[in-house]
Amino acid sequence: MTPYDIIMKKRDGGVLSKDEIEYMVFGYTKGLIPDYQMSAFLMAVFIKGMTDEETKNITVAMTESGDKVDLSSIDGIKVDKHSTGGVGDTTTLLIGPIVAAVGLKFAKMSGRGLGHTGGTIDKLESIPGYRTSLSESEFIEQVKRIGLSVISSTGDIAPADKKMYALRDVTATVDSIPLIAGSIMSKKLASGADVILLDVKAGGGAFMKTLPEAFKLAEALVDIGRLAGKKTRAVITDMDQPLNTHIGNALEVKEVFEILSGKRKDSALREISVALSAHLIVMAGLTESFEDALAMAEDALESGKAKEKMRELLEAQAGSSEALDNLSLLPQAPIVKSLKAESDGYLKSIDVLELGIAARDLGAGRLTKEDTIDPSVGLILYKRVGDKINKGDLIADVHASCEDLGNKVLDRLRNSLTISDCEVKRKPLILGVV
Ligand code: URA
Repeated sequence: MTPYDIIMKKRDGGVLSKDEIEYMVFGYTKGLIPDYQMSAFLMAVFIKGMTDEETKNITVAMTESGDKVDLSSIDGIKVDKHSTGGVGDTTTLLIGPIVAAVGLKFAKMSGRGLGHTGGTIDKLESIPGYRTSLSESEFIEQVKRIGLSVISSTGDIAPADKKMYALRDVTATVDSIPLIAGSIMSKKLASGADVILLDVKAGGGAFMKTLPEAFKLAEALVDIGRLAGKKTRAVITDMDQPLNTHIGNALEVKEVFEILSGKRKDSALREISVALSAHLIVMAGLTESFEDALAMAEDALESGKAKEKMRELLEAQAGSSEALDNLSLLPQAPIVKSLKAESDGYLKSIDVLELGIAARDLGAGRLTKEDTIDPSVGLILYKRVGDKINKGDLIADVHASCEDLGNKVLDRLRNSLTISDCEVKRKPLILGVV
């Protein structure tokens, strides 16, 4: 067996055996197969696809490439969720405290943003003091004690994914269903939860641009989870507009803290986070009724219990819990530029990819893994698709580190919005469940 033979077999549309897939994944993780051969292999998979069996085998090989977290010493149902990646998509920071408040155990390892998408760890690090790296035993002890921990993935969880994802990111091989399925599910299976909820984003700001593609990915993810004996469900959600009004690390945390404090009741982020929490509550068996589960999630927010769970999380991981009540303690950008409507109409569409790139250009994201981010910068979008707009209305604010950048991004933002004089139909936030 050689990498050359395996690349050629996939290039010509062949079906790879379990041994061939393991040979590539383990060989690459150990540094025995060079980047150029793995790149060719990934491109062959991207173009020719993989059968269900191959997708399962690549996921298992990636899971076995490193350590697995053993959560069995934690009593209760351990739940996990994962988004396939979007812009202004901060559900983890609401779902964690909500489900912990109703008694589930939320043991979550998250990633950083890359490209145009944001990452939970960067958002958490914008909270002064928050420790994203805990040892495995600290992580487990904390989940036992308060029911909740969110940390960055420990070094050896699915190391194959770490290397392969970095390579995919620079070889135009990210948006491939078997590769995304392997990447996400290897991390989830190695992280040890009993229940896995996948938030599959569909639309302009997602890796899956169309609904049929998103359904295909959702089915692949759920099949792998079930084969591995985990309760798995995927909810397909809209990414044709950002979920949050706020995009950028500290800005997104600010929006979450406001929702936890009982403000922003009409927010899309709040609505989706409550719905996803309700799915986890049903999957964990706390109730069979989705309506009851929704009520439990709502109550966790309304009663302030979810906010108190967030306070416990911050205190446990050395983040400033004062910031929860005093948002001015979060990083603030020095310059704020506003975009006002030049005419009446309806917001017809938002180029979400452009918004993600605009936020990244401000410094909220990174182009390479080595770039440092500015936690304070980003955008606030005051209108959603379908909203009526009157001339002079505030549409958006750009939070920037300097005037020039603020002005440049303001132009980019203006071009990414389409305003029409016809009324525009709103799309539902949840597009399907698998
Ligand atoms: N998120 C992941 O973790 N992996 C992918 O491949 C895409 C999104």
